[in-house]
Amino acid sequence: MMDIEIKPIDRIIGEVEMPGDKSISHRAVMIGSISNGNTQAGNFLTGEDCMRTIDAFKKMRVEISVVGKTLKINGTGLKGLKKPHEALYLGNSGTTMRLISGILAGGDFETTLTGDESLTRRPMDRIIEPLTLMGASISSINNNGCAPLKIKGRKLKSVKYKTKIASAQVKSCILLAGLHAEGVTVVEEPFQSRDHTERMLEHFGADIKRNEKITSIKSKSSLTGKKIQIPGDISSAANFVVLALILEGSELTIRSVGINPTRSKIIDVLQRMGADIKIVPPKPHFKHTCAGSRRISPGEISYGKNGKKLFEPICDLSITSSNLHGITVTEEEIPEIIDEIPVLCVAAAQASGTTEIRGVGELRVKETDRIKSMVDNLENLGVGILSKDNNIYIEGRKKRFSSKYKLAKNLTLSSFGDHRTAMAMCVAAASSDGSCKIRDIDCINTSFPEFFDIFNYVRR
Ligand code: S3P
Repeated sequence: MMDIEIKPIDRIIGEVEMPGDKSISHRAVMIGSISNGNTQAGNFLTGEDCMRTIDAFKKMRVEISVVGKTLKINGTGLKGLKKPHEALYLGNSGTTMRLISGILAGGDFETTLTGDESLTRRPMDRIIEPLTLMGASISSINNNGCAPLKIKGRKLKSVKYKTKIASAQVKSCILLAGLHAEGVTVVEEPFQSRDHTERMLEHFGADIKRNEKITSIKSKSSLTGKKIQIPGDISSAANFVVLALILEGSELTIRSVGINPTRSKIIDVLQRMGADIKIVPPKPHFKHTCAGSRRISPGEISYGKNGKKLFEPICDLSITSSNLHGITVTEEEIPEIIDEIPVLCVAAAQASGTTEIRGVGELRVKETDRIKSMVDNLENLGVGILSKDNNIYIEGRKKRFSSKYKLAKNLTLSSFGDHRTAMAMCVAAASSDGSCKIRDIDCINTSFPEFFDIFNYVRR
């Protein structure tokens, strides 16, 4: 377990690119593996979670390689995966476990899925229930609704399923199972969650119909491999966006960031807080134009959900430090900013007035309980923060965080082993009045191995 000492930063300046989007990288491996022919994905994220996904599909005898940042897959087709010789160990990756379950439910062999201490505590009943309704044989080995899971591939039937929570992982699991199920499978969610699976499946030839909350998929005999370019991860970018906003005198440009309308709400929310973030068409020399992810024209840069025809739109973000003020974030907005809430809490703590973030109960079942970790860490930094009835209330303080614990020794913050918490705490520590230690930061490798390279590159 590695700790780090972060010294305060005056401001950040620079022009940077983010690693590939984690959600899209996972899907490139999975959908590429079950397609026919070759798939190539540029700017693939080589973080630990996505490497677990690669490992799992290699164990099912798919030929996969990563050369530099390019993922290459020789797909086996929908029915071509082979029974792995051992249980599939998926580390910390909830996305891998929930999506792969949908793929394996309609296969023709038995598998066990397991993971690390955090993953084996996370709720899997949310996928066990719909898959069971589809006729799948899937069970929690310890009968506690959690992994390890045993899945025996079977013939599936289509369902119309209303999810209780807005979760892209649950929706994607059902849609992937729907590829194998006779007829049309329909998923309805209470609020729209990220739609990367739908976009990629459509691009690879699946028959999908959708409006905001209802998605349907027809069973399919084959998908076709494609060449795609993975956009920079907006969730990773959010850490640097917030850092630039709260450190006075900062100017930062982030190139080629994915602004899929179901993921870019964080920009909206920060702009509502008074953030100066400009969204500009990507600079020409960043050649993210190969099939699958094309450069967008200014008219297409909108949050009006009109990105529908695009595979995954990208843009450049230009951020100038700003005086932020508190706002209310509604429950409906949460699924679209779910991974950015830890760093949003840090931004709120540096704003004037109170910020209320409503309906964040899902944060309790992420890699760790992120409500608890935000309350513990921000309280230690001298911030007024309260969680009640699944809402978070933060009293902004508009001055650097206090690095002295109880006005004595230097403060230690903790990631609690969660990558998003670790990065949010690095952002907070950088805007403190003295150095802070952050415990257990190795977990950042799950989603952003280059985090400290970029952090050190832009600091002034
Ligand atoms: C993800 C969906 C989200 C998100 C996770 C990645 C995905 O989870 O928190 O980091 O790739 O589908 P839920 O959809 O379960 O909220």
